[in-house]
Amino acid sequence: MQLAVIDDKTIPYADLEPSYLDRGTFFGDGVYEVVRSYHGRLFALEEHLARFERSLREVAITGVDIADIRNRVMAAFERAGIANAKVYFHITRGSGDRNHCAAAWMKPRFFMTVMELEEKPANKEHGVSVSTFPDWRWKRCDIKSLNLLANVMARMDAEKKGCAEAILVNDSGEITEGSSSAIFLVRSGGSEIVTRPLGPDILPSITRSMVERLAMPAGVRVVEEAFRPEDAMRAEELFLAVTTQDIVPVVQFDKIRIGGGRPGNCTRRLIELFAEHVR
Ligand code: PDD
Repeated sequence: MQLAVIDDKTIPYADLEPSYLDRGTFFGDGVYEVVRSYHGRLFALEEHLARFERSLREVAITGVDIADIRNRVMAAFERAGIANAKVYFHITRGSGDRNHCAAAWMKPRFFMTVMELEEKPANKEHGVSVSTFPDWRWKRCDIKSLNLLANVMARMDAEKKGCAEAILVNDSGEITEGSSSAIFLVRSGGSEIVTRPLGPDILPSITRSMVERLAMPAGVRVVEEAFRPEDAMRAEELFLAVTTQDIVPVVQFDKIRIGGGRPGNCTRRLIELFAEHVR
């Protein structure tokens, strides 16, 4: 008899719920998005949907209607009635017997949660510590794929070191991004912010592009170039950019204090501009 064992329960294989056979679980074969709302309004939903559509296309998951995803997200968000919400959704290629090659009949599966977003005002006010970790990820980090094991390992290492984020360093000794955030450094007396150029080795972060758009009219030049841990340690200021927390100052990098251990003026100004933008 074909069977399945779920924890301490044994059942006939034929009785398995399809969700146990999801290709997301077997292979990380799917893509996801995280969107947030500010004050009852979803933020940058169209940008997230465009990135989602691109991720689907890049991994050749077909048959997904983005207009339908938009409707589902908006309906669930309305229904939850949470002003500052975190909306997570993913699509996997489908579910069925474990086989690297998906069957033609498989249908993409959708999953979403709408939850209270955990605000971390202390991180914004006082800044966080980060630590470096090797970037062990695959060569298409521009796709928001469900394969996050390398990110998870990096983040857990950071957590063990008492740090809020892991900063990933590639084989050439350059910083790519955080385990789940983009990273910027500030230089030239606060008149320039630097972040890695987009490419296959980083996620095209929506917050990163928002920061760039806010910085330019505020007289802060945006420079897209690679930098190393040595540059980060000597930076005037450092900050992270991520949907769930927008801008977070970094005040310690691999135990080295940045900017005297306090969030700097440029980062604080960008935090204010971001807050004004989403008000
Ligand atoms: N992470 N880089 C990586 C590897 C990320 O996973 C994320 C976001 C970012 C920031 O992207 P954005 O500004 O579009 O949120 C950069 C989400 C929040 C997560 O995995 O939970």
